[in-house]
Amino acid sequence: MKYYESLAKSIHYNFLNKSYSESKKHSDLQLIGKGRSAYCFKIKHTDVCLKVFFEKYEHLAKEEGEIYETVKGIPYFPKVYEIGKNYLVMDYIEGTTLFDCLIEGIVISENHIKETDYAISLSKEKGLNPSDIHLKNIILTKDNGIKIIDLARFRQQKKCKQWHDLKTAFYKIYQKRYFPKKVSKYILHTIRILYKRDLLKSLFQ
Ligand SMILES: Nc1ncnc2c1ncn2[C@@H]1O[C@H](COP(=O)(O)OP(=O)(O)O)[C@@H](O)[C@H]1O
Ligand SMILES: [Mg+2]
Repeated sequence: MKYYESLAKSIHYNFLNKSYSESKKHSDLQLIGKGRSAYCFKIKHTDVCLKVFFEKYEHLAKEEGEIYETVKGIPYFPKVYEIGKNYLVMDYIEGTTLFDCLIEGIVISENHIKETDYAISLSKEKGLNPSDIHLKNIILTKDNGIKIIDLARFRQQKKCKQWHDLKTAFYKIYQKRYFPKKVSKYILHTIRILYKRDLLKSLFQ
């Protein structure tokens, strides 16, 4: 068995109280991020990470892997090295998600927003429909650039307005002097729930 495949096979997820946890993993793996369809692990002593999907979302490994292949060469997206049955191996992006930037008080600038917009436009030129772009899927890197991760929904047909709404919130709210640049996790989660229930519509009009 190949190395990456054996690492992916070492992961065992438990599903309890509507959330996942990993009960076992190879000692070369370090958990770095939790998503709705997968967890991501850094492979120690390398610059790559392993995204291992939960059983229910296994099909997304191929789907997301193919999308990464489509944007290959665009520096705003991690490069993928292996597409497995339930996993992807890709560049590990060192940095902080915009979600964590808000929690830690790391300032998000207009340049970061413009760079994200540019990255999105490059993926559109490849015929994709960039979707599901939210604060946890944009990483602010050490050299003050941005990278977009989690492209699983970039081929969906449905129009997704999350990035448009985030940009509106950035210019209408975040950039205002009175808006605190550090926000508690609980407030962010509350905003997220209200947004998902379409209760913040008036802010984006
Ligand atoms: N290439 C990467 N480099 C660094 N961290 C990553 C990378 N891919 C994913 N992550 C981390 O893992 C989390 C979950 O991965 P993600 O691809 O967003 O999963 P999901 O599709 O389930 O939302 C991300 O929010 C991020 O913190
Ligand atoms: Mg995600």
